[in-house]
Amino acid sequence: MLVWSVDGLRRLGRLLRAPAQSLPQFFLGVPLRLKIMGMAVGLIMIFAGFTIVRVHNNLTATMAIQLQNQSQLLAVELSAHARESVLIDDLYGLTNLLKNAVHNRPALRYAFIVDDAGHVLCHSFTGGFPGDLLRLTGKDNPWGSSPRKLLTNEGAVWDAFAPFGPGIAGGLRVGLAEAPSRRENGEFLQSLLANTMAVFGLAIICSGILTWLIMRPIKKLVAATQSIRRGDFNIQVVDAAKDEVGQLIDAFNSMARQLKKAQAERDEKESIRKEFLQRIIATQEGERKRIARELHDQSGQALASFMLELKVLERAEDREQFLTGITRLRSAITDEMDALHDLAVELRPSVLDDMGLLAALDRYLGDFRNKFKINATMVNLGFEGQRPDVAVETCVYRIIQEALTNAVKHAMALEVKVILEWRGDRLRGVVEDDGIGFDACCSHAAGLGLYGMEERSLLLGGSFSMQSAPGEGTMVIFEVPAVRKKAQ
Ligand SMILES: Nc1ncnc2c1ncn2[C@@H]1O[C@H](COP(=O)(O)OP(=O)(O)O)[C@@H](O)[C@H]1O
Ligand SMILES: [Mg+2]
Repeated sequence: MLVWSVDGLRRLGRLLRAPAQSLPQFFLGVPLRLKIMGMAVGLIMIFAGFTIVRVHNNLTATMAIQLQNQSQLLAVELSAHARESVLIDDLYGLTNLLKNAVHNRPALRYAFIVDDAGHVLCHSFTGGFPGDLLRLTGKDNPWGSSPRKLLTNEGAVWDAFAPFGPGIAGGLRVGLAEAPSRRENGEFLQSLLANTMAVFGLAIICSGILTWLIMRPIKKLVAATQSIRRGDFNIQVVDAAKDEVGQLIDAFNSMARQLKKAQAERDEKESIRKEFLQRIIATQEGERKRIARELHDQSGQALASFMLELKVLERAEDREQFLTGITRLRSAITDEMDALHDLAVELRPSVLDDMGLLAALDRYLGDFRNKFKINATMVNLGFEGQRPDVAVETCVYRIIQEALTNAVKHAMALEVKVILEWRGDRLRGVVEDDGIGFDACCSHAAGLGLYGMEERSLLLGGSFSMQSAPGEGTMVIFEVPAVRKKAQ
């Protein structure tokens, strides 16, 4: 039984939870305009309903007290007037007095005089005294009791009794109808309701205008956001709002401007990248042509001359001529081997793969010094016998190679310093020359070399920068991520 009831409670809880959970969702989905208007209208309705009920209750309570007092005062006043006529037993005069009183006061429904036995002596009714009234007033209501409310077929009537006082038995009863006061209260409540409805209408109009004022810029913002989503960054929201929504619009406009700028930069980079790719392809083709020409013009020619030399040797007449030819041939072959070695090193130094970056750079700098008579030195820090990844080694080697070539080609440098520092997982390189320098910010796109250096660093997730000014030498700075691995 207990199990059933616990289960039942759980099910009831689930049933109640479902709408309770979906209710906030429902309200969140209601348009902003309806939320604001609904809130304004709802609050006014609650306030108006509460006020009208309170006013109605207060009016009813006040009316009851007033009617009670008025009926009692009236009874006392009329009994004082009637006292003389009662003393001389002037029933005609008394009847006139009561009828006039009822005639002159619309709320006064009746008045009559009773003796101490409860018999009616005279009254204000024209068509005879209603017997029920005497039963209602006489039996249940002892003399001198406070006014009380009688429910008659003509509506509620406040009945009050005033005794004639010392020396005269009996007294005077009056009945004050509640209907006129009730009608007055009803009219007052109606006018209150009409005013409330007017305020209600005004509130709907005001909240409508307010929501329109709030929604107008928000709608513009929504439309602009959708444009941005479609990739159109040329949008600016124009609105006179200076409040929080205005601030939001300003922030949105500046965001759109930034996006437009970033898009322009992206487009420019993309076109540079395309140009770079085309140049790379063209350079590769040029390089192939150069190698082909080199092989054809130099190695091909050399081999042809070796053939000729061999033919000459075949026809050598004596040993001395033969030995001289052999010596010449050996020297020519050695020259050709050196030339082929240079070509191979230029394409890809095998020492880079075999011995690593530092050894390859050492050899390159040695050749560089000999060839160009430039004092090129290298400092390395943090390698401690370790080698970075082969992609990093190639990247660093090529960047330094290009920087050194530029130092020869453009800088007319006398001294070049290479600094390599491997700290943690970042490898930082600096190539500094004391040459003529250049305006680094303006000639970035001038050559493939600078762009290639930057691209190589960025491709590995690193960074690249150049510092130079005419007459002040040049500094190439780059940094790439380099994970440590054991030297092989
Ligand atoms: N170390 C340097 N000293 C002086 N000028 C340099 C240096 N490096 C580059 N430059 C300038 O930058 C330009 C672009 O260089 P780069 O992109 O390597 O192209 P390239 O070497 O093919 O001309 C060069 O033409 C030169 O004017
Ligand atoms: Mg260059």
